[in-house]
Amino acid sequence: MSLSYVERLVCSKCGTRYEPSENPIMCRRRDLGRLDVVYDYDGVAEKVDRRGLSSRGVRDVWRYEELLPVRPRFAARLGEGGTPLVRARRLGEKLGTGNLLLKDDTRNPTASFKDRAMAVGSAKAVELKKNDVAIASSGNAAASLAAYSAASGMKCHAYVPPDAAAGKIAQLLLYGASITKCEQVKEGEDATVQAMLSAVERFGYYPCPSFGPFNPYQVEGPKTMVYEIYEQTEWEGVDVILVPTGSGCLLTGIWKGVRDLKEIGLIRAYPRIVAVQPNGNRALVRAIQKGTGMDRLVPVPYPASVAGGLLDPYPWDGDAAIEGVRKTRGWGVSVSDRDILRAVKELAAFEGIFAEPSGAAGLAAVRELFSRGEIDRDDRVVALVTGSGLKEPDRVIGMFEGGRGGDKNGTRLRP
Ligand SMILES: Cc1ncc(COP(=O)(O)O)c(C=O)c1O
Ligand SMILES: [Zn+2]
Repeated sequence: MSLSYVERLVCSKCGTRYEPSENPIMCRRRDLGRLDVVYDYDGVAEKVDRRGLSSRGVRDVWRYEELLPVRPRFAARLGEGGTPLVRARRLGEKLGTGNLLLKDDTRNPTASFKDRAMAVGSAKAVELKKNDVAIASSGNAAASLAAYSAASGMKCHAYVPPDAAAGKIAQLLLYGASITKCEQVKEGEDATVQAMLSAVERFGYYPCPSFGPFNPYQVEGPKTMVYEIYEQTEWEGVDVILVPTGSGCLLTGIWKGVRDLKEIGLIRAYPRIVAVQPNGNRALVRAIQKGTGMDRLVPVPYPASVAGGLLDPYPWDGDAAIEGVRKTRGWGVSVSDRDILRAVKELAAFEGIFAEPSGAAGLAAVRELFSRGEIDRDDRVVALVTGSGLKEPDRVIGMFEGGRGGDKNGTRLRP
């Protein structure tokens, strides 16, 4: 198939419309709106139905090519997506539910869900014949873009925090990225994004971070998690999706995924989408709980948590994330570092899945939601497990040494 079903792109802030042939990246009004990709849903619906999907042999994100903004022939294809949906049998028993599912996205080529985003973003860069791509990231997205750049023959320029996890730095080095460490020196400042933007300006690099306002294409990748979850539950779907949230772009993708499926008539109702943030960086959750929007959002001055992937000083895709939670009647929940580390440990000890703290943060909210009565033990709940523990083993080894890496009052969890 060579036809693209992208109909237009529309700025989320000012509503300016762009033709797909313009290949826009940022709104020309420089208003930091995200250029939301709109598909010809009638056209897609003619091509995509449940039965047809189930007979497709392709298992990666390109299985859903009609709902992606770039053709698979530009993609490096390292095996992104197509990850297992695991029933948490033993952990579910401990929590008193038979309906807990885990979407194990640690099993991606660079060991995080970011491969879904960067596979699509890098393919677009290849289509546009770019040689140099730039990214601001806590580490996972950068490692992913670096891998896809290596496989596509592009140079990746990564802007990361000084304390990025060693496993992620090792990946960046080996995949041949240039690495610039950027320290936050002012309250609320997003140092890595500022550095990336100035490099884009000065050297003409193609911006390809996870966040929507700086590149509209990669945002389309993570929504394939939703399509897979529906296929894997034979279209019964789930009641609740727990989403670890930093910048909000994963949640934006999950929201886009369920809307896409509804637009093409494959589902009727939305699952409830839950934004989960660490207590040390809970600005978006606070806005959701108060019922306010991005205009009133107060960023945390210096975000801090054991969940390093969730420390974005500003939720760049917060507008769509807030909308996704509200329109699906979901919730915003924040969790302590102690609960995150407990989720890491339980995922490993009961289910054999080794996640990094950010990757287990969604699961960390499940007890609280049960005890608040927001979710029922009969509800089908899926926790997105978004990154592998092998990226930062030190933080979790600390749990066994008497509390390094936990809340300030210590986290000592014995086996
Ligand atoms: C493992 C992991 N999970 C979740 C997230 C959160 O994603 P987002 O920034 O899209 O909200 C990140 C972001 O870096 C991450 O690395
Ligand atoms: Zn605009």
